[in-house]
Amino acid sequence: MSAYRHITVSPLAGALGAEIGGVDIAAGLDDATVAEIRRALLEHLVIFFRDQRLDDASHKAFSRRFGRLFVHPNFDLGQADPEIVRLVRQPGDTRIVGEEWHTDTTMMPAPPMGAILYALDVPPYGGDTLFANQYLAFETLSDGMKAMLTGLRAVHSDIRVAGPQAGLNARRSSRVREDANWRPTESVHPVVRTHPETGRRCLFVNHSYTCRFDGMTERESRPLLDFLLEHGHRPEFTCRFRWAAGSIAFWDNRCTKHLAIHDAGPFPRRMQRTQIAGDPVV
Ligand code: SIN
Repeated sequence: MSAYRHITVSPLAGALGAEIGGVDIAAGLDDATVAEIRRALLEHLVIFFRDQRLDDASHKAFSRRFGRLFVHPNFDLGQADPEIVRLVRQPGDTRIVGEEWHTDTTMMPAPPMGAILYALDVPPYGGDTLFANQYLAFETLSDGMKAMLTGLRAVHSDIRVAGPQAGLNARRSSRVREDANWRPTESVHPVVRTHPETGRRCLFVNHSYTCRFDGMTERESRPLLDFLLEHGHRPEFTCRFRWAAGSIAFWDNRCTKHLAIHDAGPFPRRMQRTQIAGDPVV
């Protein structure tokens, strides 16, 4: 891997994560800098920026340098700009968005390739985000397990994270669709996916959306699925990001899982997120 010439890249943990320096995103970035940011994302899986000042327009403009913006169907509540999702946690909220280990929006046939989360207002402590490397999750399995998983497919549904049955709006400030017309979205994806850019294989199941293996019942699926879900976030596969106002996390949603830690206690936390469209999972 050649050296970076337009950005600085400081790894945060052994498994994944790097802080990027030397860029002022709102000022606009030339193509060479964007190419290095993309390279850093592929190399480190989640990258972080500090001390940025974004408004909605510059947040979206930066995101578009990496692909088409994705509109999250469950956060599309008729607001003026559905391309930006406001993730707000208020004191008293008993649930928050993303509090389980998950890969974003995998009920879709083509889940987003990535997300760019920008911090507006953060608690003085608490409210960190954890990320986990799903290449490592796959590569550390035994040959026997790898062989068994290859060719296996899993059903992903948003039934637990949106809609009237989940009933989350009563317990948290960030609202999702719970109207009577809402219907769950389901897709079937390979349990082991090949990253479309790196060609590397990674584990592709997550707590929030994966409900069972294709062709099996939930009960039959549970023991193996539970093992894979727990294995996927072993501590040595993770990094932890401490937010400050103006921080950004940009994760590759094809080969990572993440979790928002629900420990902000009496403090508000205000973030905004874009998602970038991805490809069908292969
Ligand atoms: C998310 O899951 O996209 C939100 C993560 C966070 O708020 O830290």
